Amino acid sequence: MMQQKIPDHIAIIMDGNGRWAKKRGLPRTAGHKQGAENIRKIAIACNALQVKALTLYAFSTENWKRPEKEVDYLCKLPRFFFKSYMAELKRNNIQVLYLGELDKFPEDTRNVITTAVAETKENTGLKLCLAVNYGARREIILAAQRYASDVCEGKRSLSIDETEFAGYLMTSQLPEVDLLIRTSGELRISNFLLWQIAYSELIFTDRSWPEFDEEELRKAIDEYTLRDRRFGGLKDEN
Ligand code: IPE
Ligand code: IPE
Ligand code: MG
Repeated sequence: MMQQKIPDHIAIIMDGNGRWAKKRGLPRTAGHKQGAENIRKIAIACNALQVKALTLYAFSTENWKRPEKEVDYLCKLPRFFFKSYMAELKRNNIQVLYLGELDKFPEDTRNVITTAVAETKENTGLKLCLAVNYGARREIILAAQRYASDVCEGKRSLSIDETEFAGYLMTSQLPEVDLLIRTSGELRISNFLLWQIAYSELIFTDRSWPEFDEEELRKAIDEYTLRDRRFGGLKDEN
């Protein structure tokens, strides 16, 4: 068996819940529920593989355009998720984090998420980071605003390098994204982690998110292991 290179940080665009449900004659919401259950499975698997961070795109700044009923259901999912799986996440030493702006969500949703973060903040295993009401362009604007206000207030100089700017992004506590996976066949980024994926390896799979299991994760890591990451340099000849 090939020696796998385990990515420090995997990011996943969890797409295809709706199509998964439609194929089975179920409402789209059933797909979202199945998708939430799959988060548990993949998070436990990543933790066992000693992946350091797993960032999951759960709700984009564009997803508010969906019908109200679907948006309402998606807003309720964090309660279902943490109620069902919090104990297991804690047992596995998993730390919960989020990216995005919570203020647009109902109070209950906000509380459930901030409680999960607070209750797992001492955990030292996988950082399970949920991107909720997250959009990369919005994130970059917020970072630029904070940087500008630090300059205006004399807290820092105008000159800034890439590492310093990354410190203003929502991902400042996370390692570089090594591997980005998108499920369900779409070949686009849909406003996810634009800055952070500058040198990530990209994998697109036709599997829908509810069907993306440990075996698919292992295959993605195998493919990642075979990639030659040059970062603009030359192949390491030895
Ligand atoms: C991904 O599944 C989950 C969210 C975007 C919230 P979709 O709901 O986009 O499923 P498809 O793409 O319609 O199949
Ligand atoms: C991206 O999926 C957002 C999430 C997975 C949360 P979408 O289904 O919203 O993306 P588009 O509309 O196909 O680009
Ligand atoms: Mg979709």
